[in-house]
Amino acid sequence: MAIVSPSADLAALLTFLIICLIHRCGAGGYDAEFYHPVILIPGFTCPNLEARLTDAYAPSLPRCGAFKGKGWFPLWKNTSDLVRQDYVPCFDEQMRLVYDPTLKDYRNLPGVETRVPDFGSAHGFTSKNDSSRTPTCLTRVREELELLGYRDGKTLFGAPYDPRHAPPLPGQPSKVYSDYFARVKDLVERASRKNQNRPVILVAHSFGGKVILGFVNRTPMPWRKKFIKHLVLVSPTPPEGFMGVLTNLASGPSFLVPSVPPLLLRPMWRTFASTLLSLPSPMAFGHRPIVITKHRNYSAYDYKDFLTTLGLNTQIVQRVLSMKLRIDPPMVPTTYLNGVGVKTPEQVVYRDGNFDVPPEKVYGDGDGTMNLFSVLAFVKELSRQQQVDIPFKFIEIANATHSDIVVQEHSLKKVMDVILEANR
Ligand SMILES: *[C@@H]1O[C@H](CO)[C@@H](O)[C@H](O)[C@H]1NC(C)=O
Ligand SMILES: *[C@@H]1O[C@H](CO)[C@@H](O)[C@H](O)[C@H]1NC(C)=O
Ligand SMILES: *[C@@H]1O[C@H](CO)[C@@H](O)[C@H](O)[C@H]1NC(C)=O
Ligand SMILES: *[C@@H]1O[C@H](CO)[C@@H](O)[C@H](O)[C@H]1NC(C)=O
Repeated sequence: MAIVSPSADLAALLTFLIICLIHRCGAGGYDAEFYHPVILIPGFTCPNLEARLTDAYAPSLPRCGAFKGKGWFPLWKNTSDLVRQDYVPCFDEQMRLVYDPTLKDYRNLPGVETRVPDFGSAHGFTSKNDSSRTPTCLTRVREELELLGYRDGKTLFGAPYDPRHAPPLPGQPSKVYSDYFARVKDLVERASRKNQNRPVILVAHSFGGKVILGFVNRTPMPWRKKFIKHLVLVSPTPPEGFMGVLTNLASGPSFLVPSVPPLLLRPMWRTFASTLLSLPSPMAFGHRPIVITKHRNYSAYDYKDFLTTLGLNTQIVQRVLSMKLRIDPPMVPTTYLNGVGVKTPEQVVYRDGNFDVPPEKVYGDGDGTMNLFSVLAFVKELSRQQQVDIPFKFIEIANATHSDIVVQEHSLKKVMDVILEANR
């Protein structure tokens, strides 16, 4: 594993910028002969979802049936509208997934159809936090690429996914992900074809990193070699897990819909396949107690009891417990960037054993969300591809938080440097 200092490869960047100057990249002049196409895969809250309610839908509240029979409408796009229009309980119901033990797969509630709009476009996903002054969701990366001359649909693309579903482990069925992976494969091939058969650069943030690794690892090796120039993983969700997964399951997600109490979203949250991924694993967290209550402590070995105590469906608990952690390096040139030096929860205390109140937190190192030891364990696994001379590089960025890493100037610049370098 190579840990690179922040100012690495300045010379290469300068060379690129000089070439860029000649080709007038920044001035709207676009040189198709120069760039590798880029596909953006954003974080968890960024993809949008549309829904269509059919006759089979039985709303629990009359007003939740308002859109029945009226075609597609945005279900997960603008969270301030959700709150203003008093649609949160309906949102909670219509977003839910149901686990079908016969199919061993997840589906929507009867009568609810969903789709991810704008697949293919780098403008096809949006931040859900209107009060945030800084644009999240790879928006700044997109803007920087556009300044360089990248154009949506020509050299620049986006691959939003349905964040409720989980990229499946080998042998697990997922209808939604089979369809998604097929679309990503088409998109990669189309992007390459449009650009003189140049291989693509995949740029993913957070959960998008997990999704795209799931994709890459399912493609045949010759296909990867032919179509993927470089994989840029920015704070990808490590399969070794992070504490936030537990607190979101126990007490509801605090980051999902601004101004809505996490407890209101908890019933919905617990039905998502994706929220059971990346539980803190024994591999990274060992035997240390990570959830502390008055009568019982839980370590990463105690999920059967912990998830049952929370009231999760036993079939789902079985499914979670049967999942084997398996990490395959992508076997394509890869750069992994992550923040460090930000205080990150690594143990939570529910003093009275009441999961409805936010826990006290004990902090360690990380990017505010991802625990550093988990990130380093993931890095170690991915770097195994260096044994067969496939480049892998890990770049730590001091004080960069999980979401700000693709927003703040100093870390954004490093992400852009990596994309430019990958273009060489
Ligand atoms: C969401 O809706 C509010 C109010 O209608 C509007 O001010 C805001 O710009 C919208 N946000 C997005 C991302 O569309
Ligand atoms: C939304 O953005 C504001 C301002 O940056 C921030 O304080 C708040 O925590 C964000 N809310 C969520 C739910 O992420
Ligand atoms: C739980 O862990 C804490 C901190 O490690 C310890 O002080 C406490 O005695 C443990 N409680 C039980 C019930 O094992
Ligand atoms: C990171 O933050 C700490 C504490 O605020 C500060 O002492 C340190 O200089 C910062 N490091 C960098 C590289 O910005």
